[in-house]
Amino acid sequence: MSAAGVVPLLDVVATAVSAAIARVRPEAAGTDPMVRRSDRADFRSDAALPLARRSGTNPGELAERLVAHFVPGESVERVAVSGPGFLNTAVADTALWKQVAARLDNPRLGVPANRTGQRVVVDYSGPNVAKEMHVGHLRTTIIGDSLVRVLGFLGAEVVRVNHLGDWGTQFGMLIQYLDEHPDRPWRSGESTVSALDGLYKAARARFDTDLAFADRARARVVALQSGDEATTARWREIVAESARAFDAIYTRLGVLLTADDRVGESFYNPMLPETVAALLEVGVAEYSAGAVVVASREVNGPDGTPAVLIAHKSDGGCGYDSTDLATLRHRVTTLAAHRLLYVTDSRQALHFRLVFEAAHRAGWLTDAVSAEHVTYGTILGPDNKPFKTRAGGTVRLTDLLDAAVAAAAAVVAEKNPDLPAADLAAIAEQAGIGAVKYADLSTGRVKDYVFDPVRMTAFSGNTGVYLQYAHARIQGILVRAGDPARTPVDPTVALASAERALVLTLDAHGAVIADVATTLEPHRLAGHLYDLARAFTAFYDTCPVLTAPEPVRANRLALCRLTAATLANGLDLLGIAAPTRM
Ligand code: ARG
Repeated sequence: MSAAGVVPLLDVVATAVSAAIARVRPEAAGTDPMVRRSDRADFRSDAALPLARRSGTNPGELAERLVAHFVPGESVERVAVSGPGFLNTAVADTALWKQVAARLDNPRLGVPANRTGQRVVVDYSGPNVAKEMHVGHLRTTIIGDSLVRVLGFLGAEVVRVNHLGDWGTQFGMLIQYLDEHPDRPWRSGESTVSALDGLYKAARARFDTDLAFADRARARVVALQSGDEATTARWREIVAESARAFDAIYTRLGVLLTADDRVGESFYNPMLPETVAALLEVGVAEYSAGAVVVASREVNGPDGTPAVLIAHKSDGGCGYDSTDLATLRHRVTTLAAHRLLYVTDSRQALHFRLVFEAAHRAGWLTDAVSAEHVTYGTILGPDNKPFKTRAGGTVRLTDLLDAAVAAAAAVVAEKNPDLPAADLAAIAEQAGIGAVKYADLSTGRVKDYVFDPVRMTAFSGNTGVYLQYAHARIQGILVRAGDPARTPVDPTVALASAERALVLTLDAHGAVIADVATTLEPHRLAGHLYDLARAFTAFYDTCPVLTAPEPVRANRLALCRLTAATLANGLDLLGIAAPTRM
């Protein structure tokens, strides 16, 4: 599928190679033409090698026959055999310029919406009520948001879910403690959640040491679960206060999560009995020592017996396992989702593996409905160990963001000493937040990385600031050109090699985005944008734009415009702002 007639040149070449294969080897029609970008030719196909191997022929000879049966079109200009049987294909200059013009004319930059009709639930962020968001919530929030943007851009119907930890015995304990300490105010504006966090810790300590308090706290849990009015009101108040603090961070991060996306664990509470009943009925769950469990057929615990999920605890309570079983069932049956994504760290891998296994056995997950645990590595501190404060505590998310924004302010001020203070603050905020996101998203998802504010805000190297700057610089060129409005592209102009490389990098944009939607790996898009920024720099270093004679100047301006638009689009899909000035 293509967006309003923009067919990527890679696809054009692939189609031509496929046609040649079908002519030479009708029985092999439909095999992968194996076309990719190549620096030597424009594109290279490796298809002749496996084809020859399968039929016991010589790959070089087969490649020659493919060339002989290759029908060059308007776009593919030359095809030749190289090496042991590679097909090198060169694209016509006119086709490259037409590609630029077509993408510029298309509001989607030629990226097809090939995921329409697919409903995807993305479960991300999921902080816990009455606790502050900390470093552990950064990656889920950033990665989840980028996937939401990418899938949405490709036309999928995305359901964002913020699975708040808003339910459980800890709230009975906290509410009881708050009631017994009216002298310790917690609704103190800005720091409400940090106050709650502290009170929660105090409550926990009390619970562990004071048996009488522990009994009263347990009674309070029962009161909460049975819907006691005063207790429920208190709980709602705590949830609302926490949500306000989370929303402030989401706003600062510029993620898409809204109040409507908040569907906490408590929401699934009424569905737990029917979920357990459904699992028992199909024989996936069983009674065991007063509890209801699902024993895995695939994974054993450390003691060699099957790992279990607890669908219903022996004390009647419901925990994380039960809730996730009910949650998954709800997403499949009520939300009618086709694809479920759970963005949490890799320590929850076993949990989700067991939940998904149970759901498969229960028939909730099928060939038409998939579930994926989108895991990620740990954020490390300067000592290369999981990031902690100097005192060994958890690092607050706000503090991390402040550190990055401060580092960004320093580099932006240095680059741009005359910037008025208000502009500097605004740009530093965009650069600092963008730097944090880019550092995260450009790292392979499952890898750990070191949180280093100075390195992530550098103007050079593979950083968010570098990409934002590349974009801003092109905007500056367009302004200086005096007429950023469109002059038509002249397809008869010959391309310099740096222009050619830039166009071919732009050509890959849609394929990279599609790839991110499949692999759920935003670093592929980050890497592509970095390649694009570098291809632009190489072009700008060797091809004067403003001083070039027409029609070369107009064509080069078109390249600038398309590069800026593509960078802005890619940054947006990563959730990163693209300021026009830096
Ligand atoms: N609240 C959980 C945590 O902080 C994350 C929730 C993830 N989503 C889920 N459906 N279990 O680890």
